[in-house]
Amino acid sequence: MTATNTAPAFLAAAHREPAAHTPVWFMRQAGRYLSEYRAVRARHTLLEICATPELAAEVTLQPVRRLGVDAAILFADILLPLVPMGLALSFVEGEGPVIANPVRTTAAVARLARVDVRDALAPVLETVRLVRRTLDDQVPLIGFAGAPFTVACYAIEGGSTRQFVEAKRLMFGAPEAWEALMSRLTDLLGDYLTAQVEAGAQALQVFDSWAGALSPDDYRRYVLPYSRRLFARLEPLGVPLVHFGVETATLLELMREAGGDVIGLDWRVPLDDGWARIGGARAVQGNLDPVALFAPRPELERRVRDILRRAAGRPGHIFNLGHGVLPGTPVDNVRAVVDLVHEVTG
Ligand code: CP3
Repeated sequence: MTATNTAPAFLAAAHREPAAHTPVWFMRQAGRYLSEYRAVRARHTLLEICATPELAAEVTLQPVRRLGVDAAILFADILLPLVPMGLALSFVEGEGPVIANPVRTTAAVARLARVDVRDALAPVLETVRLVRRTLDDQVPLIGFAGAPFTVACYAIEGGSTRQFVEAKRLMFGAPEAWEALMSRLTDLLGDYLTAQVEAGAQALQVFDSWAGALSPDDYRRYVLPYSRRLFARLEPLGVPLVHFGVETATLLELMREAGGDVIGLDWRVPLDDGWARIGGARAVQGNLDPVALFAPRPELERRVRDILRRAAGRPGHIFNLGHGVLPGTPVDNVRAVVDLVHEVTG
């Protein structure tokens, strides 16, 4: 056995080295589909959990224990860094995030507070330290943040949206305000991700969940420069960087250009086609349809095997969903996917 085979499978694959088996973890692997998470949530709000390192560490570890996944992801939310900037964030039951004072003008961007992340986001960094003390060496901890674009969308829209009218109105109509907001977010998110690595995160994922709302031209002009600046700043940290987005089939080459050792693929692009477009110099993560976890077991297994067949045993595949685990997902099916991936590739 070579030395690379004893490295944690997630880190080996992220470096495109042979791994003992194809690593598997799930975006949103902590959450409401787990009864043990619902038990914690019955007593605390999402923001309370994030602000309490003992609770956040506990829910970070729940899916690791329950599922046998190859990585843990820090329990936090991409919107947390907006709070110390002065945005009034709450999570409304059944509605998702709501920001009472969205940022829509140059003056509003100028009023955003300067943030010292080590102070303002100290509970998140303490969660990273706590989790690292508990985790097995074979299970690395992934830190994360939103990409500047996706975080900017929430800051401008004030919540979830389908059409991105306010975000694009600012982007197309007030380029100086867009530039100021994206610049501020890029710096803050860079500080935040750097601090997570200093606290012990062994890999980082940048969630650009809403990048797919943009045409390639708009992505290139309004988003790529900031994402590239963020990744360039993170590269010297020396941990694998995962760059994730949804509905990005037309953007994969541009996302690669922006940065990331590992590029996330959603289920709309066949894994082998997506990987060919990204090129062999990057690893890929994905790409099971989250809704496949609701399918009868033989159909679910067929889809998992199809993804593994398309990866064809090449070093550099991290098995995941194309987006996050949905509420109501049968836990047994999630566990079955972990076992099947390990069994087929081990
Ligand atoms: O297990 C994990 O993946 C770690 C924790 C995590 C959360 N949010 C906790 C959370 C992560 C990685 C995120 C990222 C996140 N947050 C994204 C990017 C990933 C994606 O899904 O595209 C986005 C867009 C958000 C913003 C956000 N947070 C929304 C839109 C919502 C409401 C929708 C929903 O799923 O309820 C949240 C709330 C949220 N963040 C929950 C969790 C577990 C569910 C809330 C709850 O417990 O009430």
